Amino acid sequence: MYTEGRMAQLIIALDAPDRDRALALVDRLGSGAGYYKVGLELFSRWGPEAVTTLRARGKRIFLDLKLHDIPNTVAGAVRSATALGVDLLTVHAAGGPRMMEAAVKAAREAGPDGPRILAVTLLTSMDTREVAEVWGRQVEATGDEVVRLARLAREVGVDGVVASPLEARALREALGTDALLVTPGIRLADGPRHDQRRVSTPEAAIRAGADHLVVGRTVTADPDPEAALVRVRRSMEAA
Ligand code: C5P
Repeated sequence: MYTEGRMAQLIIALDAPDRDRALALVDRLGSGAGYYKVGLELFSRWGPEAVTTLRARGKRIFLDLKLHDIPNTVAGAVRSATALGVDLLTVHAAGGPRMMEAAVKAAREAGPDGPRILAVTLLTSMDTREVAEVWGRQVEATGDEVVRLARLAREVGVDGVVASPLEARALREALGTDALLVTPGIRLADGPRHDQRRVSTPEAAIRAGADHLVVGRTVTADPDPEAALVRVRRSMEAA
């Protein structure tokens, strides 16, 4: 396994519309979940307090803001997020190497406690046609673009990438063992897929080289989230 020596982490996507519903879930999962992804929906409603409140409860935070702006502005946003105490933070690779480099440099100012920067390569919602439409050139396969952008990100010091578990193997091979690979799109073999198409079980994602698994509705939308969490952990251990 590529992740040998590095424990794969389970990150729960806290895609709740407001503070009360987010905290109800965190309380319900209790010590069963120690790492949460805070995304644009919750951050736009609850604000930076979403991070500080979870931190005060001893949770680690993946702040998924997918930053994309001029280098100076992104560096400022990274410093602000660093001050909140986040562990992982996303930027768009399409913002360019100088922007990603500025993000990494700002994160490193905090020393070893600073966040790891992850690049979002292509949004998984985009197909080759839409990518071609935006970029104004023919795109044969999204997988090739994902690897190309991930390499670009690594060249300027970005710590890793967020990607579909189905791209994990190609990315692990292209980027080597040091890069962090964080995969959403995780589903249990017999569970609902919701709106996700390119999914993988926790076990298969880890075998393909993923370090961190982002799991949302498989746990959060289950009538018994604690039991669903146990099933996810069991599948991770099977890897
Ligand atoms: O509920 P589900 O497990 O599908 O949630 C996955 C989480 O990962 C959501 O927060 C979603 O926005 C995020 N995500 C994703 N696919 C990507 C990037 C992020 O599903 N390519």
